[in-house]
Amino acid sequence: MTSAFSHVPLAPPDPLFGLIAAHKADTHPDKVDLGVGAYRDDDAKPWVLPVVKKADALLRDDPDLNHEYLPIAGLQTFTSAAARLILGADSPALAEKRVCSVQTISGTGAVHTGARFLAKFYPRPQNQAVYISDPTWANHQQILDNVDLPVAKYPYYHAASRGLDFAGLTSALRSAPEGSVVLLHACAHNPTGVDPSRDQWKEIAVIMRERKLFPFFDCAYQGFASGDLDNDAWAVRYFVEQGFELCIAQSFSKNLGLYSERAGVFHFVSPPVADAADATTRIGSQLAIVQRSEISNPPAYGARIADKVLNDKVLFDEWKEQLRTMAGRIIDMRETLVQKLTELGTPGDWSHVTKQIGMFSFTGLTEKQVLRLREEAHIYMTKNGRISMAGLNSHNADYVAAAIDKVVRELPE
Ligand SMILES: Cc1ncc(COP(=O)(O)O)c(C=O)c1O
Repeated sequence: MTSAFSHVPLAPPDPLFGLIAAHKADTHPDKVDLGVGAYRDDDAKPWVLPVVKKADALLRDDPDLNHEYLPIAGLQTFTSAAARLILGADSPALAEKRVCSVQTISGTGAVHTGARFLAKFYPRPQNQAVYISDPTWANHQQILDNVDLPVAKYPYYHAASRGLDFAGLTSALRSAPEGSVVLLHACAHNPTGVDPSRDQWKEIAVIMRERKLFPFFDCAYQGFASGDLDNDAWAVRYFVEQGFELCIAQSFSKNLGLYSERAGVFHFVSPPVADAADATTRIGSQLAIVQRSEISNPPAYGARIADKVLNDKVLFDEWKEQLRTMAGRIIDMRETLVQKLTELGTPGDWSHVTKQIGMFSFTGLTEKQVLRLREEAHIYMTKNGRISMAGLNSHNADYVAAAIDKVVRELPE
């Protein structure tokens, strides 16, 4: 017997999940996981948000709860509350019925659904590419490859300043062929933690309008970045205000701590034109076909939890408080790390750690330094020097700072 699949090459394991497994297998008592892209409390434990526990109890006690299929487009009270959350309750796009929302398998599914929809319907007569930031969340490229959309990159990270390469970014957008799609991180850029300022977003919008580029926002960290839901949605709302036709992938993994429940939404926003409401209906009908053919209908549990939190004033206010707790702890850890490295006199300028935002920091540590930290100190981070600030806490900050100090001195760049 022979197999028709003997040519299938062995793919490398996912680097991030490999890192998680390596950390789990490490028996060293001082091991530290700075790879994980999930919130941890000050005792390095996952945190089930109290508001999620409350919503969960309400659901379980509901005698009418059943396990019937959700509609193809998902739980409507959840998707419309999610649209209000990202666009703002007073968004003219919502009032003018220019927004079409479909529940997805979290943010990943939302990026995929958007990519599938664009591959099917977005006119790209010159085979225009989807521009992704260099670097970006590793899954972007794979998701786009899966739907056969060509990918191009725009410069993003400026290694010397450990900040934004704004000149590189704008020049790439200026020379992108008209009609290209640009994938933008709404806030808390993963992996760098570097976001454009509001003025820089405004310039990006000007160029994108001039070049007729299509914005696709990936929003995985609303409220988790600054602790303020409105602040973190600013860039998306600005583009909508400017009249762009755009789409948004929205995740509730991080901001509600619902990682495994896969609660997300894909939104398509039509521009303010006369037949926009009609466009919403047409686009919605096609998204329903994409959805039906791929997952038939989305999973209910995470959406129901999010629905309860988003639509109940008391729970919503409690959630905002808990968002501030998570974002605040992360911001504190940035300050703590910089303070400790400063005290140790660690070579180099570490101020970028506090300038960056969200779960991640691009530390500037080299691959060699990263591997040495793993071998000698049992501190795990991705090879590009990205650390999850959520992995730092008041118990391990001294240990991590001392290890970084040592490796930077022993293996200078
Ligand atoms: C930039 C970005 N987009 C999307 C996601 C999707 O996450 P999820 O599928 O868990 O919502 C993530 C998660 O790490 C991310 O960082």
